[in-house]
Formats: sequence, structure tokens, C-alpha cells
Amino acid sequence: MTALGPGTMIRSAELVGVVVAVGWLAAPAFAQIPPAPGDALPGLTPTEFELFNLGLEDFLEVEEPEEGLGPAFNGTSCGGCHNVPAVGGISPVAELRAGLVDADGTYRDFDPDAGSLFQLFSIPSHGCQVVIPAAANVIARRVPIPLFGGGLVDAIPDETLLALEDPLDLDRDGVSGRAAIVEDLATGELRVGRFGWKAQQASLLVFGADAYLNEMGITSDLFPREQSFGIDPELMRLCDPIPDPEDVAEPATGRRGIDNFESFMKFLAPVGRGPIDAQVRLGEQMFNAIGCAACHVPVLETGPSSNPLFDRQPVALYADLLLHDVGTGDGIAQAAAAANEVRTPALWGVRFRRPLLHDGRAATVADAIEAHAAEAALSRQGFNELDPVARAALLAFLGSL
Ligand code: HEC
Ligand code: HEC
Repeated sequence: MTALGPGTMIRSAELVGVVVAVGWLAAPAFAQIPPAPGDALPGLTPTEFELFNLGLEDFLEVEEPEEGLGPAFNGTSCGGCHNVPAVGGISPVAELRAGLVDADGTYRDFDPDAGSLFQLFSIPSHGCQVVIPAAANVIARRVPIPLFGGGLVDAIPDETLLALEDPLDLDRDGVSGRAAIVEDLATGELRVGRFGWKAQQASLLVFGADAYLNEMGITSDLFPREQSFGIDPELMRLCDPIPDPEDVAEPATGRRGIDNFESFMKFLAPVGRGPIDAQVRLGEQMFNAIGCAACHVPVLETGPSSNPLFDRQPVALYADLLLHDVGTGDGIAQAAAAANEVRTPALWGVRFRRPLLHDGRAATVADAIEAHAAEAALSRQGFNELDPVARAALLAFLGSL
């Protein structure tokens, strides 16, 4: 148990204490305590809670070269970049991507296999550091995305997201979201991507496997080849002699590390709302009135599921998870996303998140709103035209998420 993250066990013990203390209204009191960041979803079965903790342990585990770390990597544990304000959150780290825009304006990766990521670190022994070529003319940074409520996002049906699409802006509101159709590497099916700043993956399982490779250099059967741009295979084998795939199922449990990551993220609760008062309620009305909710859709719903925790549950994430051009694009085309497109980020838990926007360029929520242009130009104009009371209310609303 010592390997477990801060809070998880203690908090559930506290909850038990509360329930005992207020015995006569035990059930409703339990239901009404909003989850704190890092908590498991309320109502897990003992088996699910065990899987959550198993996943948490792997999520926090610091990997060594002997376990497959590298040859190139950005971090040594998932938790290293996902821990503010609790395990599963964010961190101030920013990753680096680079590529090439041709004379005709088309973006391309230097190496279609390695993609646009240039890892920050390497196993130093044999010179396996990836280096950005001098010919690069696009460089972009990306900050982490919190994972709270990930299982609910995973359970939103593709059809729900497809129904929100309006690629040709037929309703002429200036907003034209597009679903990111990507291959789900676990099943081979085409799905609607919803994870990552470019909606580059459709499921937590595949995103976790992608992260294990891209962030930590650990291969799995979903991503069996090491990726280190420009490093020749011989050299790579010297820097990382562990045979691929490195993440294999444990004989005792039949589970891979990527299965454990998935369990942790799946059962991780969304961040509960802060206090809601009259000002916050007015702010939410402003949010709807000036068109923020056209993309930051307040609530979506999970599909039918045999697990009651995911069966047609409301997901108050404030996002349509579609790709939009809001004038902030990082110049990198990735998966289904064009160079100028970014997926609408969820705003739940935004009060715990700084810096803002995909590259972390915005210090405050107001800065982030000011950066909205193109499809979001009208709503930004609406924000700028709010009177001081309405503006303060809108910011109070966002501060309650
Ligand atoms: C070096 C820092 C770093 C490490 C280590 C890291 N991540 Fe991340 N994570 C990020 C960044 C940055 C993003 C956004 C990347 C993007 O979209 O381009 C991200 C995004 C994600 C997302 C998408 C969430 C969403 O809702 O869109 C998931 C899931 C995720 N990470 C899981 C993991 C797992 C599992 C691990 C360990 C195997 C891990 N991460 C390790 C930095 C990191
Ligand atoms: C056309 C769709 C669209 C509309 C309309 C829109 N947004 Fe956004 N919003 C986005 C996208 C896409 C991003 C991510 C941009 C980026 O990171 O480059 C974003 C980012 C944000 C962020 C930063 C979140 C984070 O985690 O970094 C905040 C806060 C935000 N929007 C609030 C608002 C508010 C308030 C309004 C109304 C005034 C609004 N948005 C209108 C699509 C939209």
C-alpha cells in the first residue's frame, strides 16, 4: 500500500468515517460528497477499486532503462507529468513537436513513422538523443491534459460526437466542428478520436499505449517499434537492448502495463464542481448566451453499458471533443487534425489548470478567451462586450468548474 498515491486510500477511509458518523443519512451523504481530484469514481465494486489501485501503482512507477525506458523519452513515469493538483492531473512540463511546411504550404513530418514528437531526453550512453533538423520550420509545444473523468469520456458513443459535427457550418453560426476519424489500434476499427489536443486517439487504452511509447520509450503490442527520429536501428539497440514489445502481460494476471493504466484512468473520478452561487449561475447564462457552449457543450452522455457507472451517465465536461479552428493551431497536422485545428478541451476542473491552451501560452482564463479567433471570433467579441458585472460572473462560473 505504501506505493499508492497520496490520498486515495486515506480519502476513502475518511468517507467511511463520515458515513459512520452521520449514520442516519449515510447513503445520501455519501452520494453528495463531490469527488476530490485523484479520487476513484464513487460506487466502484471492490474488484474495480482493486484494479484502480493496481493501475495507480503502475501509473506512478518510475521506469528504468532495464525495464525498457528510452532510447528517447520525455519522462520516466506517467505520474511525473500528470500530478497537479493530484495524481491524474497535469504538470508544468511542455513537450516539443517539429516538422516541415513545404513551399506549397503543406505540412509534413520528417519521418512519417516517428511523427512530429522530438523527445527531450535520451539514454545518454551511445548518443541516442533525437535532434531537430535544421530544415524544421514549425516548432510547437504541448502541455499535459488532465485525466480526471477519462473513463466517462471514453464511454461517450461515437454517434453522439458525430451528431454534434457541422463541418460546412450549415447552421451559419460561424462554428463548424469536425469529428476526428482515427484508427483504433486495439480493434482496427475507425472511431471518433477524442483524446489528445489533436483528438489523435479514440480510447484510453490506445492513448496509454501511445504515451508509454512516445513519452517513455516503452513498446507494447499496440506500438511494437521504438521511435527515435533519425537514430539508426543499430544504435537504438545499443541504447535500448530490451527486446520489443517491452510491456508484456504479467503471467500471474495476464495484464499488461497498458491495461493497468487504462483501469486507473477509467475509474478516476471527474473533478467535482466548486461552490455554485447566484453569480456563478449568472455566469453560466452568459457562457451560453455568447456562444461559448457551441463548442464547450456543457453535458454529453455515455452510451448504454452493463456497468451502471457508465450506463447513460451525464458527463459534464464542457466540450464537444470536435476539431475546430479557433486561430490557435500549432501548425502541426496530426492524425485526422489539420495544422490549424485543435480539439475543444474539456473545461471541467479548469480551476486547477495553469497554464492554459495547448501550448500553455495563456496565464489566465481571460487570456485564453482573448486568444480565441476564427470559429470562436463571435463568442470572443461577445465576451469583450459584456458589462463588468456579467464579465465577472462569467469568470466566476469558469472558476467554479
Ligand atoms: C513528459 C510528460 C508526460 C508523460 C510522462 C505522460 N504524459 Fe500523458 N500527456 C502529456 C501531454 C503533453 C499530453 C497532451 C499531448 C498531446 O495531445 O499532444 C498528454 C495527454 C495524455 C492523455 C490524453 C487525455 C485527454 O483527455 O485528452 C492521456 C490519456 C495520457 N496523457 C495518459 C498518459 C499515460 C497513461 C502515461 C504513462 C504511460 C502518460 N500519459 C505519460 C504529457 C505526459
Ligand atoms: C469554435 C469553438 C469554440 C468556442 C465558440 C469557444 N471555444 Fe474555448 N476553446 C476551443 C478550443 C478548440 C480550445 C483549445 C485551443 C488551444 O488550446 O489552442 C479552447 C480553449 C479554451 C480554454 C482553455 C482551456 C484549457 O484547458 O487550456 C478556455 C478557458 C476556453 N476555451 C473558454 C471559452 C469561453 C469562455 C468561450 C466563450 C467566450 C469559448 N471558450 C468559446 C473552442 C471554442
